[in-house]
Amino acid sequence: MLVLGIETTCDETAAAVVERLPDGRGRILSNVVLSQIDEHAAFGGVVPEIAARAHVEVLDGIVAEAMEQAGVALDRIDGIAAAAGPGLIGGVIVGLTTAKAIAMVAGKPLLAVNHLEAHALTARLTDVTPFPYCLFLASGGHTQILAVRGVGDYVRLATTMDDAIGEAFDKTAKLLGLGYPGGPQVENEAARGNPTRFALPRPMQHRKEADFSLSGLKTALRLEAEAIAPLSDEDVSDLCASFQAAVTDVVYDRLRAGLKLFRAQYGAPNALVVAGGVAANQAIRSVLLKLATEEKIALVAPPLELCTDNGAMIAWAGAERLALGLVDTLDVAPKARWPLDEVAAARGRKLNTAAYK
Ligand code: KG4
Ligand code: ZN
Repeated sequence: MLVLGIETTCDETAAAVVERLPDGRGRILSNVVLSQIDEHAAFGGVVPEIAARAHVEVLDGIVAEAMEQAGVALDRIDGIAAAAGPGLIGGVIVGLTTAKAIAMVAGKPLLAVNHLEAHALTARLTDVTPFPYCLFLASGGHTQILAVRGVGDYVRLATTMDDAIGEAFDKTAKLLGLGYPGGPQVENEAARGNPTRFALPRPMQHRKEADFSLSGLKTALRLEAEAIAPLSDEDVSDLCASFQAAVTDVVYDRLRAGLKLFRAQYGAPNALVVAGGVAANQAIRSVLLKLATEEKIALVAPPLELCTDNGAMIAWAGAERLALGLVDTLDVAPKARWPLDEVAAARGRKLNTAAYK
């Protein structure tokens, strides 16, 4: 089964062709990602209107390139998948409308994929990962711990009460005058810094519920920085190292609480899976490995290029849905907000009562 996947929910324009083999394993035939980082860098963050326009300008070329690299013609594709949300609505409309047009012209089924579901299922594209597993999803917009029980069967065990982890990295970078996106910059600086110089808080530590809170840590970091400003290069590295040390401690502690909740409700998970851009952070990966080893479960961390936004994860989630016959109609709407636990495995058709009067 071959699926074309399109991703346009944020600042990456991406398309990919992925194959799902009869035994359930996956194979990536092409994975083309064009980042808009340069277009947004001057503004220190993603500007939704610029993102949407950039997607319109390049998406057809990116799709053509993905098809060419895969070496398959459209008539051999079994389904057309696009991220239908959550995300910046202008970009989502561009990707979903393009997928609808291709599906209609080629007479292929449409798969309207939840972007978070695609992050959640990536572990099954790269590794044999049976359900159920515990997912740590950490990106610029989301920080959640989920029980992934099957395709379309996600239970949220914890979330953030304020900022997402990626967002906290991005804001820290902005505060310290580092570039955008902030995560990789803070990680680079942290590598040269002293993680014990600033005593930053570890919010929510030791609480029984597994939720995150990062705004207090952010404020503490800002106060420390203000107290010693103007900052030397060494100050910046030490602040980044102290911040990253606090975040990794928080991740370890919150995931430990999350796994406890998971075990109490669903028994032992088959794996601890990480997804989202923050999973690219090596310090965070190593505490997750430490935790998984202590808990005697496997850690599945997809390769870096599949942790950040890409088309292969959308194509793969589409293939998993298509294999179960979960296709969408051409009138499916793009969604800015679409929590993962509202993704149903079998989406029944809603009655159109407005038209039945
Ligand atoms: O999943 P993603 O590509 O996009 C969405 O937000 O959906 O995640 C991007 C986020 C950004 O906030 C970025 O700063 C963060 O992931 N990130 C990192 C690292 N690389 C990317 N955070 C910490 N350390 C990194 N190495
Ligand atoms: Zn993402």
